[in-house]
Amino acid sequence: MSKKREVYFITGGCGFIGSNFIHYLFELHGQNVFVINYDKLTYAGNPENLKSVEERENYRFYKGDICDQELVERIFNQYQPDYVINFAAESHVDRSIGNPEDFIRTDTLGVFYLLEASRKHQIKRFIQISTDEVYGSIQEGKFTEESGLFPSSPYSAGKAGGDRLAYSYYVTYNLPVIVTRASNNYGPYQYPEKLISLFVTNALDDKSLPIYGDGKNVRDWLFVKDHCSAVEFILRNGNDGEIYNVGGNCEKENLEITREILKATGKEESLIKWVKDRAGHDRRYALDDNKLVSLGWNREYTFEQGMAETVKWYTENRKWWEPLKSGEYLEYYKSHYGEEL
Ligand SMILES: NC(=O)c1ccc[n+]([C@@H]2O[C@H](COP(=O)([O-])OP(=O)(O)OC[C@H]3O[C@@H](n4cnc5c(N)ncnc54)[C@H](O)[C@@H]3O)[C@@H](O)[C@H]2O)c1
Repeated sequence: MSKKREVYFITGGCGFIGSNFIHYLFELHGQNVFVINYDKLTYAGNPENLKSVEERENYRFYKGDICDQELVERIFNQYQPDYVINFAAESHVDRSIGNPEDFIRTDTLGVFYLLEASRKHQIKRFIQISTDEVYGSIQEGKFTEESGLFPSSPYSAGKAGGDRLAYSYYVTYNLPVIVTRASNNYGPYQYPEKLISLFVTNALDDKSLPIYGDGKNVRDWLFVKDHCSAVEFILRNGNDGEIYNVGGNCEKENLEITREILKATGKEESLIKWVKDRAGHDRRYALDDNKLVSLGWNREYTFEQGMAETVKWYTENRKWWEPLKSGEYLEYYKSHYGEEL
């Protein structure tokens, strides 16, 4: 008798990390999994990211909002998912400053609707993809899973709401919930508004690279494929009710990253353009992920390898990102950085 395939209900699968994760799952499990991708297709969701898997017999895409309780319920009834992995989010800090409401709605309330649906069905595991930004900024040392939460933007506050709500469903209803908190991701399929994807694509076009403030803000950088392997590892080996930090062990100042991008794309430092700092800009994020490493997970990519793969991908996939840098994007860019792209 053939073994029943495990059903994954993945939200936000048309976004950057979600789509990388779906590709990763098919590479790892092939026909042995059934994947439902549920995504609202906001400006950040791009069906092109999954073009190569859309004909698969073990893949289904549904356009929907995680706040649409009725539709979520209907899909749960039809497929009885084993695993729910919530990547869906409004995810850009800069946008959260101008329009916080969407962030609170999706990043907190949306998690509530998914938890409610999961509670009614016998799911095996619910993974809430949270972020290191819920900890706030740290001057020295690193955040562990025991650190307090001091989110400082509407984005990170909305994520902290979803993060703690998910935990409460473990404590209150015994729902098998795990929360992951990853550091800044970079890699293929990232909408060109985040630091690395924006700067790599601008550099390839000989456009300026706008650095906020003094360029000394520090982030820890995680290659997206390492994040994907961590999520799948945690799904299989993590313990219910736990939080796992997923770090890149790669702290760098924004100016340093910019110089690495210029080097990797073969461009001059004259492309650097200094712009006014953004409101509430956290100075430094740093994560201690020993808890996850002690469980047996390890990063595969060094920063140099991840960066080389990233630059290669954006160089070879202009058709993917060039159309994104048009229309509303250009207006947003101008209002934000004070200049035409
Ligand atoms: N990018 C990072 O560096 C990073 C780091 C740590 C954690 N995270 C978290 O990982 C997750 C994925 O991040 P990303 O960078 O891929 O984001 P993204 O913005 O690229 O993708 C988000 C996806 O969610 C979808 N979406 C948005 N609102 C929705 C809704 N209401 N219902 C259904 N779908 C909706 C969008 O259409 C998009 O496809 C997020 O939860 C984010 O907070 C991201």
